[in-house]
Amino acid sequence: MPILILGGRGNLGSQLTKLFSVDYETVSLDREDFDATNFVILAAKIRGLKPELIINTVAYNAVDHCEDKDGYASAFKLNVNLPAALADLSLEIGAILIHYSSDYVFSGTDQKQSFSEDETPNPANKYGESKFQGEREITRRGGLGLGYYLIRTSKLFGPAGEGPSAKPSFFDIMLDLAQTKQELTVVNEELSCFTYTLDLAAATKRLWELEVPFGIYHLVNGGPVTWYEAAMELFRQKKIKVALRAVRSENLFRAARRPKFSILQNTKVHKLRNWKEALREYLETGKN
Ligand SMILES: NC(=O)c1ccc[n+]([C@@H]2O[C@H](COP(=O)([O-])OP(=O)(O)OC[C@H]3O[C@@H](n4cnc5c(N)ncnc54)[C@H](OP(=O)(O)O)[C@@H]3O)[C@@H](O)[C@H]2O)c1
Repeated sequence: MPILILGGRGNLGSQLTKLFSVDYETVSLDREDFDATNFVILAAKIRGLKPELIINTVAYNAVDHCEDKDGYASAFKLNVNLPAALADLSLEIGAILIHYSSDYVFSGTDQKQSFSEDETPNPANKYGESKFQGEREITRRGGLGLGYYLIRTSKLFGPAGEGPSAKPSFFDIMLDLAQTKQELTVVNEELSCFTYTLDLAAATKRLWELEVPFGIYHLVNGGPVTWYEAAMELFRQKKIKVALRAVRSENLFRAARRPKFSILQNTKVHKLRNWKEALREYLETGKN
């Protein structure tokens, strides 16, 4: 029985596809193969394939657009209705479901900066709300016998996905900007953990292979930082001299409020390495 990866040409999905296909028969689908909002066709595909494991990386990730009505309707389809449909189908065919959620389901304060797996979410924006509702669709079906790994992660970086509209990650955007600008303005807030997509793909595979108990997991690289601190480290490692100006969130116009603190604590499984080490590997081996 194959492993089905949805969103297989996205940033995380590309790494999952590479890694899983080394050891397993893997079917990796993306936008050009199916429309994740057409649940009838998706259900027929899944019933035909009968995968033992479904890994879903498809999501609506345009955080600011989620604040308007049309954006939220798209987010609801992909972040809530899709995981609900996948959970139902997984129950029906006896597949295990792996789904990804976000640190944005939490919004911390100076007094409460980090969150363990079993804490109750309190999203600060509509994107976080949609991801939290998607989580609930899955955990609710856990009570009906669904075997699932719900993985929360944050600030993904790594090689851009293979799809035509793959988005570059923060570090690649910074490196690009540094080629043309004398000074870069970076938010010195939003303390949370970067996560290298290669490490996350490997940690995901480990969860499944080791058959750890089903449930919610936090998989992030170690060492929380703000965007500004991360940019400083990037240019230090690359030995690029560029002026960085730290700004506060409220100085940028963005429709969605960002959580000031959303550090995910991994209290349940093997911790991933520190993000600086992962960044070093990415800069040495990546396509930047
Ligand atoms: N990126 C982050 O920093 C971050 C942080 C926390 C959590 N997460 C979560 O991690 C997971 C993976 O994120 P990612 O950054 O790897 O996402 P991504 O790069 O956007 O990958 C998602 C893939 O799904 C495809 N897709 C989108 N809508 C589709 C549709 N209607 N039908 C078929 N395919 C569709 C996308 O194609 P297009 O590119 O053509 O749209 C893309 O290839 C998501 O659940 C996300 O919420 C991400």
